[in-house]
Parts: sequence; C-alpha cells; structure tokens
Amino acid sequence: MSKYITTPIYYVNGEAHIGHAYTTFIADTMARYEKLKGEDTYFLTGTDEHGQKIEESAQKRNKPTQEFASEISATFKTLWDDFEISYDKFIRTTDAEHMTGVQKAFLEMHAKGDIYKDFYEGYYCVSCETFFPETQLIDGEFCPDCGRTTSVVKEESYFFKLSKYEDKLLKHYEDNPDFILPRSRANEVINFVKGGLRDLSVTRTSFTWGVKMPASLNDDSHVMYVWLDALLNYITALGYGKDGANMKYWPASTQFVGKDILRFHAIYWPAFLMSLDLPLPKTIGAHGWWTRDGEKMSKSKGNVIAPKVVADAYGVENLRYFMLREVPFGQDGDFSQRAFIDRINSDLSNDLGNLLNRIIGMSGKYSDFEIDSKDVIKYHEKEIDAMNEALGNLDDFMKNLQTHRYLEELWKLFAIGNGAITGHEPWAKMKEGKTDEALATVALVANILAKAVIMLSPVMPKTTAIVCDALGFEINNESYKDLVLGKNLLKVFNIKKFHLFFLALKNL
Ligand code: MSP
Repeated sequence: MSKYITTPIYYVNGEAHIGHAYTTFIADTMARYEKLKGEDTYFLTGTDEHGQKIEESAQKRNKPTQEFASEISATFKTLWDDFEISYDKFIRTTDAEHMTGVQKAFLEMHAKGDIYKDFYEGYYCVSCETFFPETQLIDGEFCPDCGRTTSVVKEESYFFKLSKYEDKLLKHYEDNPDFILPRSRANEVINFVKGGLRDLSVTRTSFTWGVKMPASLNDDSHVMYVWLDALLNYITALGYGKDGANMKYWPASTQFVGKDILRFHAIYWPAFLMSLDLPLPKTIGAHGWWTRDGEKMSKSKGNVIAPKVVADAYGVENLRYFMLREVPFGQDGDFSQRAFIDRINSDLSNDLGNLLNRIIGMSGKYSDFEIDSKDVIKYHEKEIDAMNEALGNLDDFMKNLQTHRYLEELWKLFAIGNGAITGHEPWAKMKEGKTDEALATVALVANILAKAVIMLSPVMPKTTAIVCDALGFEINNESYKDLVLGKNLLKVFNIKKFHLFFLALKNL
C-alpha cells in the first residue's frame, strides 16, 4: 500500500518560524521512515496564499497581492530546500491547476445538493480566517481562538451542508480510533461535533483575493472561503480535477497539523471528502505548540525564533533531533536554549558520539580497523537480544507518531553498546590475551551502531549517512531489511576514520 504524508500549507503573511519547521520536520521524518521501509511514499508541502489575511498583509506592505504571496512562498520553499526537506511536491494555492481543482470540487458538492445560497450574518476573525456566531465570542467581540478583535460580516454566501454530516462524522471517529492522534485530542473534536454543527459559509463577497466561482454558476461576486480552497490542496496536488495522475496515493496515511487547526482537518475536511465520495485520511496527527522560555511565540512579543538562525548556529539535524526528542507528540514544548544545548550534548555528543569514538579507537588499536562479527553471538547473546527487542518496538512508536518514545527506545541501543564496553572491558581482555572476546565486543558495538543509525536516519539523514559510510554500507531499504528486519550482522569490513562533532556550545 502506498503512503501519502502531508504538512499543513503555510500562510504567506510572514516568514517561517520554529513551529512551521516542527510540522515540516515531523512530516519529513515520517516520509523518510516510510521510504526506508520500502513504501511507495508521496510527501506534500506548500503554501496557503488566498484570503483576507494575505490580502491585508500585502496591502500593508504596499505590494500587489500576488507578488507579495510569491515572495513569501519562495522564502518557505528556499528554507525547506536549504533544510533538504524531501518533499515530492510543493503546492501553492495560487497554482492554476489547484484553482481549477477547487472549482471542480465546488461544482461536485453543488451537484450533490450539499451547497446552497443564503445570507451570512455573524463575526469573522481575519487572523484565524474563521467565522464565529456571536455566542462564541469572548466579551461579545474577541475571537475565542486567538483573542483578536473580530469583524461583523453580513453578506450573501454559499453554504456547505456541514450539519448533514454530523452523524456520519461521529460514526467515523468511533469506528476509526486512529483517525485523530494522539487519541486524547479526539474528545475535543467529538464534543464539538456533538454540540451541533452549523452549515459552513464557503464563499465571501467582501473581498476578491480567492479562487473564483466556477463560471457555470454565473456568480462572479463570490470568491471561495480560504479554508475550502486550502483543504482541497491535499487532493488537487495529486491531480484531482485534472488528470488524477497521482490520486493512487489518496487517501493520505498521515496528515500532520498543529492543534489549532485540528478542527478544520478533523471536521470540515472529512465532511468535504464525504461530499465528494472520496475516502478519508487514515490519520490526522495533531501536534502541540512551541513556546519560547515558557511564553507563547508571537511576532508582536518579538520572541519568534527563526529556524534558519538556529540551524546556522547548531546544524539543522541537531535541531530536528531536539524538536522530535524533546516533546511528546501532541503536547506543547518549550524552546529553551539551555534545554537544546543539554539535549544535544548529552544524547548526541555523549551517547552517540562517544560510542563512535570508542569503536574507532579500539578497532584501530586492536585490529587495524578491521571489524569482524564472527564471535559476537558467542560472547554477546544477551546484548543482541536486548538490542533486537528495542529495535522491534520502534515501528509502533512511529506509527503512533510518538517520535520522542521512538528516539528514547532507540537510545537504549547506545546504552547497551556503552554498557557492553564498560562491562566487558575489551582493553583488559586484550591484556589477558583474550583477543577474540575483545574484538567481539568491538564488533558488537559496531553492529549496534549500524542498526541504530539506520533507524535514526529519518530524523538525521546526513549525520547517519556519514556514520554508515564509515561502517562500509549505505542506508537504504536493502540495509534496513538486512540489518534491522533480518537481524543480520555486519560482514567483515574496515572501519573508516572520521570525525563528527555534535557539541552545541554557542549562544543564539
Ligand atoms: N494555512 C493554514 C493551514 C491550512 S492547511 C490546509 C495555517 N497556516 S499557518 O501558517 O498559520 O500554520 C501552519 C502550521 O504551523 C499549523 O499546523 C500551526 O499549528 C503550526 N504552527 C504555527 N505556530 C506554531 C507554534 N508556535 N508551534 C507549533 N506549531 C505552530 O494554519
């Protein structure tokens, strides 16, 4: 079965910050993990360019909206390219093919009887691009999601019959406990739906920066609501409404989103798909928010962290490791420099780095860098069993999007390796003339390292490629099947000397 992984598409009202980088890193890690396992995988990211928020941001900067959107979109693409994000497609909602696909979907929902014209009267938060009835506002004025002032909207609008899908949605949540991960987040969605769904306004007439109505509806005064337009990117990217060339990847296996946009993805999106008679994604994975030194990051507070600044100072792979290891998926996390430095120094520099240095040092001294696994089972069955057990637990953690548990489990391998060296003291064995035993310990550790870096490769692709090169093999589906699934040991090889430096000492 093929896999389809998506990130949300990012608004082009400002440049990427660390929260955007986080979603992209997790999705990239998942896509690389699936590819490592040999799955036919498609990975999508891109930018969300329509709507009032973008129009207003462009106006503030005195720029034509399209030009402004293109400039910011390019900064996202360049950043992901700099970070070697392995996306298969970068979609922009201003792409002509996307817009045609949205019109096609609109017509399809209309033909189905799911769209009707009426009059909308309520409140709108431009920042969240969300409609709210008066009853939901805070103090009769402020957005219940972001706290900003809302504006009154009174306009003719087309509506999507969201209410029609209430029961079907509830049944879907019940029948598919992995539809929303972590499961703890599902309750808030279920309660929201149980509270009653109102039909959703899906067009606007008070501004023009959006996908036009399909010509056949003869209603030029409306443009599509930005969330309808944006959510459909996940299928227009696959050729929906055009040639459907990549629709074989649909339904998505995992769609990553931040918790703030879970409602759109777990309620509106599946309802739109039901209306289009398309299957629903297998999992919507909702992650938490990153704060800075305990405070929510925001442009107005001036505490936003630019991912490029951190990556330039510490290396993008250290940043990826930190973000995926530090915070349980779904929970909020704090980006403190202290935590970052401690994490890199202890896990990467000490645990991983030391193990590497020890193998190179010992193999150089004892066997002219030759590593031979022939006696590993004889002297180290216990460690091999423990290693295989940890390796066998990894897949479930990744499937449940628990990247921190995945990495924690993987780190058991380094503990086993370091423990074997301390426990077996190969230097003492060499002195006692027990060369076979000493070399078996060195080979055990080389095997542990080999298997560990294969499984670490989705998180730290470049670093692990360097280690594998030294260990004489490449990370790919073949080595995964041989050394991880097949539990085989490394063939005789000569380790290459190399140096990796993880220490994170600089200040931002
Ligand atoms: N354009 C919409 C998504 C449309 S998807 C069909 C959007 N864009 S966004 O740029 O505002 O946010 C994109 C993602 O970044 C969201 O998943 C959001 O949760 C995430 N983050 C934005 N700030 C964040 C943090 N401070 N921390 C973690 N992620 C947060 O919403």
